[in-house]
Amino acid sequence: MRVLIVGGGGREHALAWKIGQSPKVEKIFCAPGNAGTAEVAENVDIPADQVNRLLEFALENKIGLTVVGPEQPLVLGIVDKFQEKGLRVFGPSAQAAELEGSKVFCKDLMKKYGIPTGEYRVFEAPESAQDYVMARKEKLVVKADGLAAGKGVIICNDGQAAVKAIQTIMKDKAFGEAGNRIVVEEFLEGQEVSLLAFTDGETVLPLDAAQDHKAALDGDRGPNTGGMGAYSPTPIFTEALKREVMETIMIPTVQAMAEGGRPFQGILYAGLMLTANGPRVLEFNVRFGDPETQPLLMRMQNDIVPLFEACIDGSLDEQEVEWKPESAVCVVMAAEGYPGSYEKGKVIHGLQAAGELSDVQVFHAGTKCSDGDVVTNGGRVLGVTALGGDFAKAIANAYNAVEQISWEGVHYRKDIGRRAK
Ligand code: AMP
Ligand code: GLY
Repeated sequence: MRVLIVGGGGREHALAWKIGQSPKVEKIFCAPGNAGTAEVAENVDIPADQVNRLLEFALENKIGLTVVGPEQPLVLGIVDKFQEKGLRVFGPSAQAAELEGSKVFCKDLMKKYGIPTGEYRVFEAPESAQDYVMARKEKLVVKADGLAAGKGVIICNDGQAAVKAIQTIMKDKAFGEAGNRIVVEEFLEGQEVSLLAFTDGETVLPLDAAQDHKAALDGDRGPNTGGMGAYSPTPIFTEALKREVMETIMIPTVQAMAEGGRPFQGILYAGLMLTANGPRVLEFNVRFGDPETQPLLMRMQNDIVPLFEACIDGSLDEQEVEWKPESAVCVVMAAEGYPGSYEKGKVIHGLQAAGELSDVQVFHAGTKCSDGDVVTNGGRVLGVTALGGDFAKAIANAYNAVEQISWEGVHYRKDIGRRAK
């Protein structure tokens, strides 16, 4: 089978690496890919949001399975367009992808079906939103309704800060049209856990949980990023908690989507806050997480391709997922300045030495080949991922590999996985 992976980050390199191990797969294409995917797949120079060009490519190249990494093409309807032409594609329809594409849709669905999440209000006019928050003394979270590349959430220490956040999102339009509506939400405290599950629209098959490190700096300080590292499994997320989340969140959400005429096929990713009052949904994503996918796929025993196929065919009830007992840790190496502005084109040294270490995979995110070198080409550059018999060992393996790699201005957190030890 010929497989097309859409996207070009660490998640997509990990997917290409894993899919490449399947005996069912003869060739992988990755659009647009990066220098890492080029080693296990053929890169195709089409950006992930150019749905019509991707469709043309898939038809011409007789692609038997397309796996979509990022949210944007899903929200743009890539799955609908591919299916209309009879192509097999893993991911939700545009209507189902609204679960991530619109925070208002997501919150209203959870409220209607009693799925545990923070209290919230929706506003369409900045004045009424500002009147509502102005006198508040507690922490609040202001969220742009639409997609904002992970940046549309502003945590505010009090009402005055929320007034400013509303100005930024609704009046200054920092995230464009995504800020036409906002959600103002209660601030929830606790540890965050990501639970991803395969679903064919009916059966929900959870993966092991993972924890992300959203803040840029050690000790969870500094601005939020797309994720500076991740690990799996998650000692804090017990089997009992997982059962509770399956019964009160994952299964009811898949049922609610089907009932609302938006059956959900693909990966349902719940961003959870484990509060003193129980787990609460912070957000749903409609795709694999990045970087969570890197440690998760390092630990997955099975061939992943039959899981994709079962989601497409509605036969997920016949599948299981098996996990290596080892711990996995992914340390993201980022460009100087990230998550703010950063330069590209710095030559990366030491990739070969790091790649030769056992139990280590260096997944590429923002990289490209240039004149025989691998150079930086994004904010998150590499996801150095390692297995170990326990967390201490996995952490040591990951940082041992990280220390082999260098470029001008590289930065990474030194405390990834420490919470789990
Ligand atoms: P979201 O895109 O909604 O997951 O938000 C991005 C990040 O903002 C989350 O991973 C949390 O770290 C944080 N966040 C979002 N909503 C809340 C909330 N209600 N309380 C505390 N932190 C939040
Ligand atoms: N790691 C967070 C995300 O994939 O959205």
